[in-house]
Amino acid sequence: MLTAYDYPSARRTEHGDIDICLVGDSLAQVALGYDSTTRLTLDEMLYHCRAVARGAKNPLLVADMPFGTYQLGPRDALDAAVRMVREGMMEGVKLEGGEEILDTVRVLTGLGIPVMGHIGLLPQRHASLSGYKVQGKNVEDALSIARAAKALEQAGAFSIVLEAIPSPLAAHITSSLHIPTIGIGAGAQCSGQVLVQDDALSVWSAGHKAKFVRRFAQVGQEAQRGVDGYARAVRSGDFPADEEGYGMSESVFDKFKD
Ligand code: KIV
Ligand code: NA
Repeated sequence: MLTAYDYPSARRTEHGDIDICLVGDSLAQVALGYDSTTRLTLDEMLYHCRAVARGAKNPLLVADMPFGTYQLGPRDALDAAVRMVREGMMEGVKLEGGEEILDTVRVLTGLGIPVMGHIGLLPQRHASLSGYKVQGKNVEDALSIARAAKALEQAGAFSIVLEAIPSPLAAHITSSLHIPTIGIGAGAQCSGQVLVQDDALSVWSAGHKAKFVRRFAQVGQEAQRGVDGYARAVRSGDFPADEEGYGMSESVFDKFKD
């Protein structure tokens, strides 16, 4: 699984033979410049979902339910999820949380909207989690994450993202479930893996890199090289060259001048 936020990034998931294309609400920070995923509105999410759906036909299309669209309970969640499917052209939705969202997971899956769970580090709760830190390090937290995984499976989730939890805990959860787990900072023993595409491509070369991110390309550096080169070439008069413009026969131009 890999994230996509727009048409070109979605095309890349399709060409790369990615199984699941996730319109993650990480787009709030990565694509829109917000300081938290909690700023993202449902309408903004739907706009990005539609662009991704136009770009990726083969991967399964899953999107995050934005913060605030499912916390009030199944009724609200169903309204929002129906919009994600109908207007956003998504095939499934992802919800952060455990025990407290089980009713909602039951209602959505019961009505045929596939739900992906997300436990461990929950970015939509970064304030109450005191930041973005590994979860499940002590016995109590580990047990609560493992219980949430089981409960989500029983409630009908088709898969669960495990974010930033110790690898042995993720391995244990994965072997205790029938549905696949998808890890991000959760080790190699998950059924699948996910990364934010911009992280994997290093679109933002500056700034903090989470421990679990691997850079598979240096797109940010290369993109900046292009913009810098363009600006330099225009200022120096090097761009455009004669062959980068359109000619006109001399006789036509002479007549035009007269
Ligand atoms: O928003 C996101 O990109 C995510 C993935 C990293 C799992 O939720
Ligand atoms: Na997310």
